Amino acid sequence: MKLLDGKKLSLELQTEIAAEVEAHVANGGRKPHLAAILIGDDPASKAYVGHKVKACAKAGFESSLIEREGDISQSELLDMVRELNEDDSIDGFIVQLPLPSHIDNQAVIEAVKPSKDVDGFHPENVGRMALGLPTFLPATPGGIMTLLERNGVKTTGMHAVVIGRSDIVGNPMTTLLSRNAEPGNCTVTQCHSRTVDLKSHTLKADLIIAAVGKPHFVTADMVKEGAVVVDVGINSIEDSSRKSGRRLTGDVDFDNVAEKCSLITPVPGGVGPMTIATLLQNTLRARLASKR
Ligand code: GUN
Repeated sequence: MKLLDGKKLSLELQTEIAAEVEAHVANGGRKPHLAAILIGDDPASKAYVGHKVKACAKAGFESSLIEREGDISQSELLDMVRELNEDDSIDGFIVQLPLPSHIDNQAVIEAVKPSKDVDGFHPENVGRMALGLPTFLPATPGGIMTLLERNGVKTTGMHAVVIGRSDIVGNPMTTLLSRNAEPGNCTVTQCHSRTVDLKSHTLKADLIIAAVGKPHFVTADMVKEGAVVVDVGINSIEDSSRKSGRRLTGDVDFDNVAEKCSLITPVPGGVGPMTIATLLQNTLRARLASKR
């Protein structure tokens, strides 16, 4: 078994991005500027957004973190989005999800100007991705495709099983793996919470993408010998050996699955850092495409 080391690759990508920013600035360009809207005080969302803002500084980007209480009204949030759409100093922005339950997520996503939608969540960008047109790829699936590509994993002809059907991971992952490109060209089976006999599908998979949100959901008996396993889960579980009493773990029972597979992503240090690197790539692309 070999590790698909997302932490290492994301550092390489950040160095490449920083060099591009430096060249752009040396040519009289402005630094890319990413803004992030964070609503409420969910600790996981706070941590993710914190990582994104920190990565901006390392890559030579400007960043703005805009925090509001969880009781913000839908119209106030939509006004904030419209303000960022019109702000020429901002190249791209994200609204960290999930939003409080009184907010209509889709209305917020659709309010973001597609040219600044560096999350790739706007229906226009989702449609462009589905058609294979240039666009911002959603950061997690985009990062996984880069992780496979840069580790020389040839996916053409593979049978991929995606477990999950979220708009953020499962659905775009299915689209990208089945596209006519390398990486891609997979025969994809998309499984979800209503799939009957999940194991019968995963046992046929050359590539498993686990995006379930349940700790250690994918066990060794579900995995074919030599498979490639990508773990998208970031679950906080109790661990009395840690000072905090908790630790992060994935959707895959890593210790046992690792013995069977050819390549596997660790948690932490696998998909998470690739998500951030891809967000930076998208923001740099937004900056370079902008006439401002
Ligand atoms: N919540 C979980 N993943 C993401 C992401 O990639 N972008 C945003 N905006 N929210 C998320």
